[in-house]
Amino acid sequence: MRSLIDILDLTVEELDDLIATACDIIADPDKYAERCKRRKLATLFYEPSTRTRLSFEAAMLELGGSVIGFSEATSSSAAKGESVADTAKVISCYADIIAMRHPKEGAALVAANNASIPVINAGDGGHCHPTQTLADLLTIYREKGRFDHLTVGLCGDLKFGRTVHSLINALSRYEGVKFVLISPEELKLPSYVKNEALKKKGLEYLQTTSLEQAMPLMDILYMTRIQQERFADMDEYLRLKDSYVLTPEKLKTAKPDMCILHPLPRVNEISVKVDDDPRACYFKQVLNGKYMRMALILKLLEEAKA
Ligand code: CP
Repeated sequence: MRSLIDILDLTVEELDDLIATACDIIADPDKYAERCKRRKLATLFYEPSTRTRLSFEAAMLELGGSVIGFSEATSSSAAKGESVADTAKVISCYADIIAMRHPKEGAALVAANNASIPVINAGDGGHCHPTQTLADLLTIYREKGRFDHLTVGLCGDLKFGRTVHSLINALSRYEGVKFVLISPEELKLPSYVKNEALKKKGLEYLQTTSLEQAMPLMDILYMTRIQQERFADMDEYLRLKDSYVLTPEKLKTAKPDMCILHPLPRVNEISVKVDDDPRACYFKQVLNGKYMRMALILKLLEEAKA
């Protein structure tokens, strides 16, 4: 049974196909309005979410399907001690496809290994978040028209930011992509991501603590929130939480066509004054996420049927 746990589960060609499907949905949504009639999506969210859960639900509804699920662990039998493995077996009796978010790294893989329907990882702890990457990729494609030969800056919490890990893995497969890794020393990209995605492939990257130094270099700036919920020490979170705040002033040295992304939610790392800048693409990114999730649901259900 085909699931999506890591963005690298999809080949570059499959990403191209998903983008093509998403663009076709944008051009002619009516064509897709009944494609998932009588199919059910189960959203199993053990961690808070606004975009991912609701965009999955909107995606399934716009495909003509239905949605069941829970939005917090405390309202499910996880609160009584039911395992992820058993939950996956149970939900396989009710639904056709699962989107699952869980605070533990590897939980989505456990679900996929026990479900008899496709499982989509909607975020597992600080590990990865492949469908956010699908949203990011469609936004880059629609704004830049390509993935190759781009200088991509990632700023903020590169240690716990699962969206960062998935995006680096995805973009590291395209020719001529360079990365600028901007973070406090304490929140640097984990070495397992750096080694696998960058060093082994011989990709060019710059590591810095200075957003100002990096600003003129970038075609894409991917801002991220400092992930409060992953900190064991709250004093450390409070010390680091405002490490980077993007303002119109700081953008003065950026390329005029730089694309500003953020997976959201935003806390304080992008001033609301930036929202009117034509380079701010983070709300377009939200909408693109729904289209890519529609394309993904179609693909996985199609493959499950075959
Ligand atoms: N980007 C993202 O995962 O947002 P939510 O936590 O609101 O789903």
